[in-house]
Amino acid sequence: MGEPKRIGILTSGGDCAGLNAVIRAVVNRAIGDYGWEVLGIKGSTMGLLSRPPNVMPLKLHKVDSLLTQGGTILGTTNKGNPFAFPMPDGSLKDRSEEIIEGYHQLGLEALIGIGGDGSLAILRRIAQQGGIKLIGIPKTIDNDVGYTQLSIGFSTAVDIATEALDRLHFTAASHDRVMVLEVMGRDAGHIALRAGIAGGAHVILIPEIPYNLDLVCQKIRDRQNAGFHFSIVVISEAVCTEEGDTIQKLQQFGECRLGGIGQYVADSISKCTGAETRVTVLGHIQRGGRPSTIDRILASAFGIAAVDLIYHGKEDLMVAWQDSQVISVPIAEAIQDYRTVDPEDTLVKTARGLGICLGN
Ligand code: F6P
Repeated sequence: MGEPKRIGILTSGGDCAGLNAVIRAVVNRAIGDYGWEVLGIKGSTMGLLSRPPNVMPLKLHKVDSLLTQGGTILGTTNKGNPFAFPMPDGSLKDRSEEIIEGYHQLGLEALIGIGGDGSLAILRRIAQQGGIKLIGIPKTIDNDVGYTQLSIGFSTAVDIATEALDRLHFTAASHDRVMVLEVMGRDAGHIALRAGIAGGAHVILIPEIPYNLDLVCQKIRDRQNAGFHFSIVVISEAVCTEEGDTIQKLQQFGECRLGGIGQYVADSISKCTGAETRVTVLGHIQRGGRPSTIDRILASAFGIAAVDLIYHGKEDLMVAWQDSQVISVPIAEAIQDYRTVDPEDTLVKTARGLGICLGN
């Protein structure tokens, strides 16, 4: 079989900055250099469940201005696992065959799936089942996909969290307060660790390093005794209470999302130090807006590399960033290797070297 003439692309899972920049790069390479057709599949696999499949033919002029746009023009979802799809009567149905049928109806010869570990696992399962040539591109502000040092969206999220810390410093110092910033990241503390270092935090709490509240309070008291009556704490959303419970809220459609540990820690700090505390939950601000310089570059490099893999007849691979190079790794390996912060990581040592309290 010759080289593919029509490929599909979809974005899956939570949105983040840089997705549109990937779409732009894919279209530029596939249409501009190889003369292929590119169909953008709307709403992740939901677009392949529609009849006719819900797609947006992508053209060079359509993607021209996408480099700096947040979100994804294709839409996305982080709900509705096709293998256990929630039906109106409350039952769960395996709808994977419908997705495969939708894909083949479009006459696609390969698919580029941009997603995090969960989405890539689902897409791979569908691809294996349906004979779909899949190339994955890792995206997630959590930066927890294995085998890649960077995923699309992470750098922007870190920049936003760092800027939030910069801003909080002024209010903290003006009011002699302890300001607590809760950031996203699921079970990985990458955003909190990096933003905490870059934003001059005094305490960084991440899920990978169990903390002792007495030590956190001691750090704040030490600063008070040294004449610094304000402190900045950054905390990852999946940090547990001292009893070992995560704090989460039930959302619409029965889904739980992490959130609330910042308030718990702030309350504990004010009890033990007498300091006035305030909490900022940064939330989805971390996902939106213009991609950082690094995300634009990463998105461009990943998009080009993904199309080139298809050109060379490859499949079942994910592009990855290792030591300033784009490489490719089996999707199966990447999704098995959930990447959290190694407590021996050089940045953990950096934080300790700076005197930042990590809670232990
Ligand atoms: O995985 C990305 C992420 O932003 C996590 O950091 C966060 O816990 C979750 O998604 C929030 O999901 P939702 O957009 O469904 O609220």
